[in-house]
Amino acid sequence: MSRKNDRQQFLDDVIVGLDSSPPSIPCKYLYDARGSNLFESICRTKDYYVTRADLALHQRHLPRISDRIGPRAHVIEFGSGSGIKTRRLLESLHEPRAYTPIEISAAALESSVDELRRDLPHIEVQPVQADYTRDIPDQHFRLDPPPRRRVVYFPGSTIGNFDKDSAIAFLGRMRTIVGDTGAVLIGVDLLKPESTLLRAYDDHEGITAEFNLNLLVRMKRELDARIDVEAFKHEARFNREQSCVEMHLVAIRPTRIRVGEHDFDFDAGEGIHTENSYKYTVAGFRTLASQAGLESTEVWTDPDQQFSMHWLEAMKGER
Ligand code: AVJ
Repeated sequence: MSRKNDRQQFLDDVIVGLDSSPPSIPCKYLYDARGSNLFESICRTKDYYVTRADLALHQRHLPRISDRIGPRAHVIEFGSGSGIKTRRLLESLHEPRAYTPIEISAAALESSVDELRRDLPHIEVQPVQADYTRDIPDQHFRLDPPPRRRVVYFPGSTIGNFDKDSAIAFLGRMRTIVGDTGAVLIGVDLLKPESTLLRAYDDHEGITAEFNLNLLVRMKRELDARIDVEAFKHEARFNREQSCVEMHLVAIRPTRIRVGEHDFDFDAGEGIHTENSYKYTVAGFRTLASQAGLESTEVWTDPDQQFSMHWLEAMKGER
């Protein structure tokens, strides 16, 4: 896709989003270069427990996870796999058949593949440059000789960004990729007391606030939008009914956003919904997965029971 089309898509999505009620903007736009750096800083804050818990879980259960995956597996990661967790997982596999990272950004994919090939030369890396939220033709995953099984690996709790219906559809596409003999290894953040959740999404260092407000900075820079960024503040809310942490950008005084030819007025207290992060109990996620033809047959957690990793096996004949 050309740069102009990316900008046009961003512009269209922002206008449609601000025009809806309540106003919202898709969370993927939080992750420009600065947003991605800020997210990495969030992961190092005391209050955002998610990354540390996910890592602790890997550390604690890696031998059992590798046993479950078994020999000659083709591990397919949704995401670039530049992280330490991927590295450790690949190192612990028994005779891995191959590893496929799926990543939309060519630059991110290339640098992570170069590093992996250098550091783990015994593993065949077969990258796929694609948007993993869309259908990917099966030919991209075929290997000769074929693996014993395919395993989709999706750590980090990004599944929490999807609403329930989209999560089921997304899990269903993973089910299609792995086939009847395959499995999905997926990280899921656990439901916990509201105060802990709100702190994690509104950290004391103010980095999450900066991350959220960066969306407005990006709109000014890339869309020539007219926005008084100072008129907005970051807010994290817990939606109990949906079991979901929401991020909002809330106007602290009446203000106007101008994008293209469009004006959007906000009264004090009105805002833009920018991200959802659904939290699950073990049983709740098990039910969700079953609706996508996947059976949760084993669940691992970190020592503090903050984060979970489900081993989902394809239900035979489903899909
Ligand atoms: C990258 C989707 C896992 O929802 O916890 C962190 C993003 N947003 N703080 C999450 C995020 C605000 C994060 N994920």
